[in-house]
Formats: sequence, structure tokens, C-alpha cells
Amino acid sequence: MEEKNRSTFGTKFGAVMALAGSAVGLGNIWKFPYICGIHGGGAFLIVYMIFVVFIGFSVMLTEFILGRRGQKNALGVFKVLAPGTKWHYFAALTILGTLVILSFYGTIAGWTINYINLFITNSFKGDSPEQYVSAFKNFVSDPVEPVLWQVGFAALTGAVIVGGVKKGIERVSKILMPFLFILVLILGIRACTLPGGVNGLKFLFVPDFSKLDGYAVLAALGHAFFSLSIGMGILLTYASYIDKKENLSNMAFQVCVADTMVAVLAGIAIFPAVFSFGMNPTEGPGLIFLTLPQVFGKMSLGALWGTLFFVLITFAALTSAISLMEVLVAFVMEEMHMERKAATAVTVIIVAIIGTFTTLSFGPLSGVKIFGMSIFDFCDYFASNIILPVGGMFVCYFAGWKMKKSDLYDEVSNSGKFKIVFFEVYLFVIRYIAPVCIFFILIKGLGLI
Ligand code: TRP
Repeated sequence: MEEKNRSTFGTKFGAVMALAGSAVGLGNIWKFPYICGIHGGGAFLIVYMIFVVFIGFSVMLTEFILGRRGQKNALGVFKVLAPGTKWHYFAALTILGTLVILSFYGTIAGWTINYINLFITNSFKGDSPEQYVSAFKNFVSDPVEPVLWQVGFAALTGAVIVGGVKKGIERVSKILMPFLFILVLILGIRACTLPGGVNGLKFLFVPDFSKLDGYAVLAALGHAFFSLSIGMGILLTYASYIDKKENLSNMAFQVCVADTMVAVLAGIAIFPAVFSFGMNPTEGPGLIFLTLPQVFGKMSLGALWGTLFFVLITFAALTSAISLMEVLVAFVMEEMHMERKAATAVTVIIVAIIGTFTTLSFGPLSGVKIFGMSIFDFCDYFASNIILPVGGMFVCYFAGWKMKKSDLYDEVSNSGKFKIVFFEVYLFVIRYIAPVCIFFILIKGLGLI
């Protein structure tokens, strides 16, 4: 069943756009700026980049190697590469993590779609700061509207997935990703030319290490995993669609660069504007919904910029949600022997139901706490700071210690066609540095040491 359905990306450009589409998402435009804001700006950025270069790239490359070697999804790959072992239980982690991420993803994406609507209809005109805040709070706590947007977003994601790998995922990514890149550039240039915008750039690039504690370092690591889409076998599944003649390390490099660039550009589009209008950069998850609309409200042509900004985030969210949902759909297709259409329908329904709980945790379910966090905060914390690092540790351990070194080299070098000069360094990273770092950061961040 699986072999018969195994599809591939049509072109290298399409493959890179789909991979970058998975990586570039709400993590880059909604989450990165606000956690960077909370944890002191520049200092956080430096730690984050160190993790991307030294750990993120290697874990990503490892997922690429495993996926293309095994030619299977996150479950099947371990059955092929380590037959007769229990490694494929890793898939349980993938399913859990994917469902958790997709649920809170839908909540935020639903909000962004509503904000496009608000800007297009110019609903914010002349509002005072209090009105912006109450409009946001009333909207997110409403028991119906945000749920409908969230369900709509799940359905939209499903609509792309039904088209399959080439005609659905690849085609949509090839259109949306270049557009997204141009939009974030334009918005960045616009923000930097605002009076006083330079203070925002200083905030983003001049490090203040006094705000960096163990928690901030864990957040930087968890976010590097989240933003690069690694740790859960999702890129592993996408990599199984990559042609055997492509150079995997090149592709991993390009995806890491594209992802980090969009995060930094989003910071450049946001902080100068926030500072220029004397707003607070440490607003948290509400930064783009509370602070930015006020900023747009004060700019000339604000409704246009606001619409463009929220279109940008919605596109970013869509291509990432597709990658998450594709993994679930692939599982349902295999495990329940369903056709793509039926499998997608089942998945959309399950995701929409779980997403409803996360969405309602801002309203009627706000009293429900898990370890003292709201349902939404718990999902976000649990997925990024625990499931992803643990998953990344597994991936490294498996590739570094259980697979033959010669097999790894064979796959990454396309049977010796490319010279991979950094291979020994890479191997050292996934054997020792990455697992050990992840482990310590994890227990430190959880307050265990
Ligand atoms: N990387 C995406 C973002 O930055 C989110 C995402 C998509 C993801 N697929 C993933 C995170 C797989 C972890 C694993 O928003």
C-alpha cells in the first residue's frame, strides 16, 4: 500500500520550497519575535542562532538522511532501518506531538485569518489603545467565532493535502513561499524607515545577557527545534519524497538559512515599528495581535500594511500546518488502509475537535489548568520544550549509535558522489554534542537541576 502510494517532489526547487514551507511558519513570525522580546532581544537571538548552526542543522540533516534512506514515513523508517526492534514506537511521539502542535497552531492561524478580515474591512479605524485591547480580548474569548476560524483553517489545510505531494503540497508551497519572502522584505523595509525605528533594531541586535537564564536557554533550544520543524520525524517524512540525486546537506543548509532569515526579517518588520510608536516589545503571545494593529493604525496606509502582514502570517501558517497534517494523513492511510481523501477527512475532523479545546481555553475553558497552565500554554510548552527536544535526542541517538557509519555516509554523499568534508564533525555532533546538550538543557529548563 505504502510503496504504491509513495510519491516524490517534482523538482528541486519545489522540494526546497516545501521543506522551507514547513519550517517557516507561525514560529518565525508570531512566536520568534515575542519570545525574543521577552528574553531580552539580541542576547536571545545569539543563543538561538548558535543552536540552529550547531544542533539544528545536524538534526535536520539526520532526519533527511533517515527519511531518504528508509523511503518511508516516521513509523515505517524505523521498521526498515532497524527491523525487529521497538524503535518504531517513536511514531507514537510523532503523532502526539503533531496533534498537540496542530491544535494550537489552528487557534493562532484562525486569529490571523480574522485579522485579515478586520483590516480589509478597515474595522480598526481611529480606535484608541483600549479599544484595540478590548476588541482582541472579546474576540479570543468568544465561544463561537474563533472556533469557526480554527475549523475553517483545518479544512483549508486538508483541501491542499487532498491534492497529494506534487499537486497539492509542492504546488502550493512553490507559489506561497516566494510571495511570503517578498512580503516580509517589504514590511521590513517599511518598518526600518519609520522615525525612531533604529531603536527596534538595537533591541533586536544589541545583546543584553542579563535577561538570559536557564529558562531562556531552554526556550531558545525548544524554539530552534520548533522553528526548523525538527524532532518529530516530519522533515523525515518530507525527505522520503526527495529525489536520490539531490545533495541533502545542501538542502538542509538552504532550509536552515531561509528559516532563520525569515525569523530575523520578521523581527525587523516588527520591532522598529513597535519602538517607533513607543509600544512595549515584551507583550508576549499577543504582540502581533495587540501591539502591531495599533502600530498599523498609526501608519499611513495602515489598513494595507496590516492586511499584508496578516496575509503573510496566514500563508506561513498554512504551509507549516500542511507538513504537520500530511504526517497524520499518511498514518491514517496506512494504518486504516484508507484512500487519501477519506484519510484527510478523518484527520481534519480530529484536528478540528482537539483545536476547539485549545481555542476555547482563551474563553469558556480559561479556568481549566494543566500544571498551572492554560490548555493552550500547556500544549505549546509541552510540544516545544519537551516532545521536540526528546524526539531530537532519539533521532540523533538512533542515527549516531544504531546505524552503520558507512550507511550514513553513503546516503549523505549519494554513494560517494559528493565529498562531505564535515562528515566526521557532523557525526561527533549527533553522537555526543547534540544529545548531551539537549539532555542538560532539558533538565535545567525543567528546573530539575
Ligand atoms: N516550523 C513551523 C513553525 O515555525 C512549525 C512546524 C511545522 C513544526 N512542522 C513542524 C514544528 C514539525 C515541529 C515539528 O511555525
